[in-house]
Amino acid sequence: MSASIRPMRADDLPQVLAVERASFVQPWSEGLFLDELAHADTRTWLVADSEWGIVGFGGLMQNLTDGHILDLAVRPDSRGRGVGRALVSALIERAVELGIHRMTLEVRPSNGVAQRLYEEAGFVSVGRRRGYYEDSDEDAIIMWTGQLSSAEEVGTRERLARRARASLEAFSLEDPPEERLAEGDDLILAVETSCDETAAAVMRGGRELLSSVVASQVRFHARFGGVVPEIASRKHTEAIVAVVSEALDSAGIDLADLTALAVTQGPGLVGALVVGLAYAKGLALATGLPLVGVNHLEGHIFANVLADPDVAPPLVALVVSGGHTSLVHMPSWGVYRTLGSTIDDAAGEAFDKVAKMLGLGYPGGPVLSELAKKGDPKAIRFPRALINTADYDFSLSGLKTAVLTYIRHENAAGREVDAADVAASFQAAVIDVQVAKAVRAVRECGVRTFCLAGGVAANEALRDALTAAFGPLGVLVSVPPLTFCTDNAAMIAAAAHYRLRRGELIGLDAEALPNLALG
Ligand code: KG4
Ligand code: ZN
Repeated sequence: MSASIRPMRADDLPQVLAVERASFVQPWSEGLFLDELAHADTRTWLVADSEWGIVGFGGLMQNLTDGHILDLAVRPDSRGRGVGRALVSALIERAVELGIHRMTLEVRPSNGVAQRLYEEAGFVSVGRRRGYYEDSDEDAIIMWTGQLSSAEEVGTRERLARRARASLEAFSLEDPPEERLAEGDDLILAVETSCDETAAAVMRGGRELLSSVVASQVRFHARFGGVVPEIASRKHTEAIVAVVSEALDSAGIDLADLTALAVTQGPGLVGALVVGLAYAKGLALATGLPLVGVNHLEGHIFANVLADPDVAPPLVALVVSGGHTSLVHMPSWGVYRTLGSTIDDAAGEAFDKVAKMLGLGYPGGPVLSELAKKGDPKAIRFPRALINTADYDFSLSGLKTAVLTYIRHENAAGREVDAADVAASFQAAVIDVQVAKAVRAVRECGVRTFCLAGGVAANEALRDALTAAFGPLGVLVSVPPLTFCTDNAAMIAAAAHYRLRRGELIGLDAEALPNLALG
């Protein structure tokens, strides 16, 4: 299968804009493109069209005998297949037909791929234009061709044009579109700083994890019995440079090799999110790479996709962490519907608070669940809030109070509290409600895949209860390995891969969104 080059039409614009947005930090707007198409007397816009849709485009402006390349972009899944080379050759051929003697263009110094492409087509660098890119104050490298009609140029040009035509005739994406969406060979650096872990990861094609670095601040927060936002922001600032360099180093990757950058945009602690976002925007400015914003909860769900190739929508996910308890329906890639969430404490938060009451330290979830193994889950009957309501909301603060009341009551009566029984009975109350709601959500949404996500997914009793409930129903239960359950950047990179494929980028004006909802 091949691609061919033809003039751009107005009805190509939705696809052209998607390619533009997937390629540049400050993409051209639809208005600008429409304006260009309206000036056909001095403008030539070409697209590379294929059975997979538009895979690239480029534009040329004529000013008497001068020609200027305005914009040129190739769709991420089609890069490295000769599309850019073919577009440059076609623009030069067209320029010669129009009587243009010399071509010029500007390119970002950080965009090595584009410079090599133009050099190959006969452009040479002739100087710099200071502060040309307003977004970054970055200089532009000015490149131009020699006299297009000189004998030497004509020879080179014809040779290159032949090669470009051949590569376009052989152009193929090989894989069917569905798989292309999942595979592809993009190389993403992701940064995560939404709570108390500073994390960075490098991933190829959405699945091949090249590195994942997590610097936990947990010991700095432990003596306060919870995450202190001010400490979190400061520690992120101290750690982020080292964490990102280590992620790049251990992946054996240079910034120049990357296809895109990704960052958690929310939800989370605003001061913590801002550190990662500002850092990622800085990198985007310096490199000219596109930037993808990821929802932290979406990231937790993608820990499952990353760990198990069979996990794909439609699915229902339960995200349970220190900050969140949400049931989410994901009918297809990129589409989310939050079915319900906690109206007060998050599940992990409840584990942490009860652990504190029992004097188990912070974070309490892991210790409490270990202790629960030695206790009797039926010893104390704690409340199971909202277990029979028709919605998918959760409430955990009543349970927390019930545990506190029980401990006080026993102490007042001079009886010793059996911490293991309290832990086991509390845990059973949390799990009963979560399993009941998860089963109902899967039934109602008619899906066959259920994903557990977030830090509390590390809880063995919860995993076992879900597997026991879903097994007989023939529902696939996916639980990521422990390292991907707690906060990390690998899951952010995995989610970013899909957003990048769909051309969903954020600009340099993007803000941290502490209350960002999913869907
Ligand atoms: O996802 P995560 O690392 O951070 C947030 O985004 O909140 O989750 C951390 C939470 C903590 O509250 C911790 O106590 C809880 O997950 N957790 C557990 C277990 N391991 C971690 N909760 C219950 N049982 C566990 N085994
Ligand atoms: Zn989390």
